[in-house]
Amino acid sequence: MSGLFVSLEGVDGAGKSTLAHHLRRRFEEQGREVVLVREPGGTALGEAIRTLLLRREEVVIDPEAQMLLFLASRVQLLETVILPALDRGAVVLSDRFHLSTIVYQGIAGSLGEERAVRVCSAVLGERRPDLHLVLDLPLELARERRGKEVDRFERSEEFLARVVEGFRSTSGLPGDRIVRIPATGAPEEVARLAGEEVDRVVA
Ligand code: TYD
Repeated sequence: MSGLFVSLEGVDGAGKSTLAHHLRRRFEEQGREVVLVREPGGTALGEAIRTLLLRREEVVIDPEAQMLLFLASRVQLLETVILPALDRGAVVLSDRFHLSTIVYQGIAGSLGEERAVRVCSAVLGERRPDLHLVLDLPLELARERRGKEVDRFERSEEFLARVVEGFRSTSGLPGDRIVRIPATGAPEEVARLAGEEVDRVVA
C-alpha cells in the first residue's frame, strides 16, 4: 500500500486541528498507520525554529529569512519524518505545509506570491502533499474560533483578511491539487466533506 500525504490549510482558527483528529480516526479505523505533524515544528530542529519564529520576538527576522526558516523546518520534517512514513505506506496529515508559506509570506506578506512560489518550488521539488485541503471560513468566524493564543504573528485584521483571500485565490505550485471546503458547518460535517475528497484521491 502506498503512502498518502495530505496537508490541512486555512487561516488561523479555521479548524485544522479538529479536522486532523477526525481524519486520523477515519484512517485508523481503516487499519492504516497515521502520522500527524504540524508546521512549523514536528522535529527537534523544527520545534526550535518554531520557538524562534513564534516566541522570540526580540530576535529580528527579515521576511526573506523568515520564509527560509519555515522552509528549513519543512525540509527537516520531510526528510526525517514524512518521507520515511510515506515509504512505510502511512497516511501523513500535516497541519499546514507550503500553501501557508505562499499565502502568509507571499500573498499576505511582503514577498509576493511569485517569489514564494519560486522559492518553495526550488526547495521542495516533488516532495509535496498529494492533496491540500483548504478550510474556507469567513474572517469573523475564524476570529471567534481562534481564541486567545498570542504569538509574534498576532496579526492585523487586514493581514488576516488577505490570508483568507489568499487561500481562496492561490493555485499553489504547478501541479498542486487544492480542494477548498466550506468550514462553517459542524466539525463532523467538515470531516465528512474532507473524507470524500480524500477518497477521490485514493480511488
Ligand atoms: P500555529 O500556532 O500553528 O497556528 P495555527 O494553529 O493557526 O496553525 O502557528 C503557526 C503560525 O505560523 C500561523 O499563524 C501561520 C504561520 N505560518 C506562516 O506564516 N508560514 C508558514 O509557512 C507556516 C507553516 C505557518
